[in-house]
Parts: sequence; structure tokens; C-alpha cells
Amino acid sequence: DIHPTAKEGSRAVAQEIAALIKSRQATNQKVVLGLATGSTPKYLYAELIRLHKEEGLSFKNVVTFNLDEYYPIEPDALQSYNRFMREQLLNHIDIPEGNYFIPDGTVPKEKVKEYCADYERRVEEAGGIDIQILGIGTNGHIGFNEPGSSLSSHTRLVTLDNSTRMANAFEFANMSQVPRLAITMGLSTIFKAKRIVLLAWGTHKAKIVRRAVEGHSTDQVPASLLQQHPDCKFVIDEQAAEEL
Ligand code: GLP
Repeated sequence: DIHPTAKEGSRAVAQEIAALIKSRQATNQKVVLGLATGSTPKYLYAELIRLHKEEGLSFKNVVTFNLDEYYPIEPDALQSYNRFMREQLLNHIDIPEGNYFIPDGTVPKEKVKEYCADYERRVEEAGGIDIQILGIGTNGHIGFNEPGSSLSSHTRLVTLDNSTRMANAFEFANMSQVPRLAITMGLSTIFKAKRIVLLAWGTHKAKIVRRAVEGHSTDQVPASLLQQHPDCKFVIDEQAAEEL
């Protein structure tokens, strides 16, 4: 879907999420959301907060799993995705403590494998993800699944591309402070979501959106693999649609 602005696109996605939450509330069921970080989903989270505060949308029946986190990183670090989620969404809604999961950037290295397998299991035990929200890196990454990631990849520790570290360097004091590693849900984890909604705003995303949507489906552009998912849509603004 192409919207005039990021705000309008975000509002439409928030409406879709709200409708699902309410329909599940009517039958006393949970909703499982897969959440992303970065600048892209900020309006979406702001709109969900608005729906909570102004229209009484409750998140009591919502369970969330975040895609990724830097490694290593403390949850309170300025750049941590844990902090981002608390500040941008979780602290402002009535989601119960224990209903949200964000990969832990403090797990000791020798325990990371086990931790990732556990994360994967938790998603399954929750019933799988109903709606997965994604952003897209300028190199086509989704979560922190960099080019070359396998469609069968699970939640795991990955090495960040140099281009990703440079794109995210503005969050840190300097390049050497940007973590070299991250924990990310795998492509197979993401693909198990019943529905996937990828968001992209701005001219700087136009090229990669075109490659992902119109290029062939290749692991060199992880987002292009989404062409193979049965229920995936891109919600973009006019600027990100410029090259289509
Ligand atoms: C980050 C995140 C991704 C995000 C992407 C785009 O590195 N790991 O989950 O989608 O890069 O970021 P932004 O939304 O700031 O453009």
C-alpha cells in the first residue's frame, strides 16, 4: 500500500492491529505481535499509544516479541532496543509485565545459543506471531538478517555488516562503539508469522524497496525473500515508492 505520508501509512497499520486486538478480546484470545525498532515504526507506536490513551484500546491480551538487539549491550544503554521499546511503546500502554520479549544483549556468550533456542521456543509456545512488523535496512536486511542470511535461519547471534554499522553509527559516540554483533530472529522465525507488514518511509529507502518488490527473490536482498511469504504487504510512503 502506498500512502501520501509515513504518518498516514502508520495510522492504517495501527488501525489493522487495533482491529485484531479487539476481535480477539471479544473471544478472550491473545494477539501475538512481532515488533521492530529503528526510526521507521516510531509513528506506528505513537499511534498505538494514542489509541490506548484516547480511545481506550487495551493491550492486556497482547504478547510481543522483538526482532533483534545489539550484542553485547545493557538494557538501559541509550542505544539498546530494550530501552527503545520501553520508551517508544511499552511504558505507555497497559501490556502486562511478562507479556513482552526482547532479545537480551547481556546473555553470556557461552549461553547465547541456548538463549536463542529458548526465544524461538517461546514464540512457538505463544502460538506464533499473528502480525510481524518489519523495517528494512538500506542493504535489504530485515531484523538483523544481513544479505546472505538463509531462509532457514533461526534466532541467532550474527555479525553486523559494515554498512549497517555505519548506518547506525549516529546513535553512538563513534563508529568503534557500534556493536559488531547482534541477536536477531532468523528468516525462518519471521516467515512463520501469519502476516507480515513491512514499513518503509523516505527517498533513502526507494532503491531498496524497488529491489525488494520488483527484483528477483534472492538472499542477497533478504527483504526480497518476502515475495515468497503467503501474506506479506509493504506499507510505504510516496517517497519510498518513487522508484517503483
Ligand atoms: C536497523 C534494525 C532493523 C531496522 C533497520 C532500519 O538496524 N535492526 O530492524 O528495520 O535497521 O532502520 P530504520 O527504521 O531506522 O531505517
